[in-house]
Amino acid sequence: MAIGIYVHFPFCVSKCLYCNFNSYAGKNDMQIKYFSALIKEISMYGDKKIDVDTIYMGGGTPSIMFDGCVSTIMTEIRKNFNVLDDAEITIEANPNSVTSMKLSEWKDAGVNRLSIGLQSSNANILKLIGRPHNKADYINAVEMAKSVGFSNINTDILVGLPRQKLSDVKKTLDLVVKHNCTHVSVYSLILEDNTPLYNMVASGELHLPKEEKTLGMYNYALKFLREKGYERYEVSNFARPDYESKHNMHTWQMHEYIGLGAGANGYMDGIRYGNLESIEEYVSAINNNTKPISFSEKINSKEQLEETIMLGLRTARGISLNEIKKQFKVDLIKSKAETIANLTQWGLIKIDKDYLFATDLGFTVLNKIILELIS
Ligand SMILES: C[S@@+](CC[C@H](N)C(=O)[O-])C[C@H]1O[C@@H](n2cnc3c(N)ncnc32)[C@H](O)[C@@H]1O
Ligand code: SF4
Repeated sequence: MAIGIYVHFPFCVSKCLYCNFNSYAGKNDMQIKYFSALIKEISMYGDKKIDVDTIYMGGGTPSIMFDGCVSTIMTEIRKNFNVLDDAEITIEANPNSVTSMKLSEWKDAGVNRLSIGLQSSNANILKLIGRPHNKADYINAVEMAKSVGFSNINTDILVGLPRQKLSDVKKTLDLVVKHNCTHVSVYSLILEDNTPLYNMVASGELHLPKEEKTLGMYNYALKFLREKGYERYEVSNFARPDYESKHNMHTWQMHEYIGLGAGANGYMDGIRYGNLESIEEYVSAINNNTKPISFSEKINSKEQLEETIMLGLRTARGISLNEIKKQFKVDLIKSKAETIANLTQWGLIKIDKDYLFATDLGFTVLNKIILELIS
């Protein structure tokens, strides 16, 4: 079966107040060394017998990498793997760092899906959370991308931001739909430890909307996007028909993928692994001709079952009861009869033919459902 490749670019112009991802501001002088290390890491995994059907370049902010970086990375990946002709190739971009030159470079390199982080169209909120762009930058980025030939564009938005009101979410969604994005990811803000936002909320300097207000924003997004022809195919992801992200779907379906770059994760041959997070340590390991892996663990059959349930239930399709029976010799209908009966009666899950899936109500308490089914 074909695999995916994830490439991580850990550089950002500045660090957003809420972000806990492996990304660093003020380290752009490391870009060239990092790029050379990535090229070497690609060859460490290279095998022309491996088919690749999705590539995802994420961050951090891939769009702030120097001109020519992405196309060379793509050339190296093609040299080392058999990238299928119809592979989905995504790159993440921030609205104020895309240029028509970069977009043309990516298009020529075979990138066919663009993911833009807007978060909100409200200038005050963007400023408050430390985003260095505005609504005009977003419009400019989307229109430039379309004129270069990108037709598959995702926009990330956040709900539950400080000072955010339902009216802000409505305006943000109007903007995204007006610009005809094929895919929208709507994330509820997670207040991560060790972020400036966490400390500001803890000290009372900033307040987040109450949980029911955030839920109201999410429910609005759900209803609005459905009315506009987007289907919710995963708890946070909406797509026009045939525009679901293949890369993410494959991850939720436990397909194998190689993770490249500082802090990237991978899953190959039943082993989950993660790379060193520090850019310097990552580069140094590669320069010493060692894979920059900081941890790896063999996933045993019980853990594989738990992950299959956990990841599968994130998708609207849910989990295949027959597949689980075949692969793990576990009949959930029998072993979890009472739990399934209760969750169904409370309107949190449904079973249709072979699939067990969460309802819209179930998605609001997904972690609890998963715990019930795997405990
Ligand atoms: C890690 S970012 C990379 C893309 C790009 N740097 C950006 O910020 O637009 C990917 C997405 O994760 C989401 N994200 C980041 N931090 C989050 C948090 N604390 N809670 C929920 N979503 C978050 C944002 O919507 C963001 O667009
Ligand atoms: S731009 Fe994206 S990756 Fe960078 S700090 Fe902000 S949310 Fe994190």
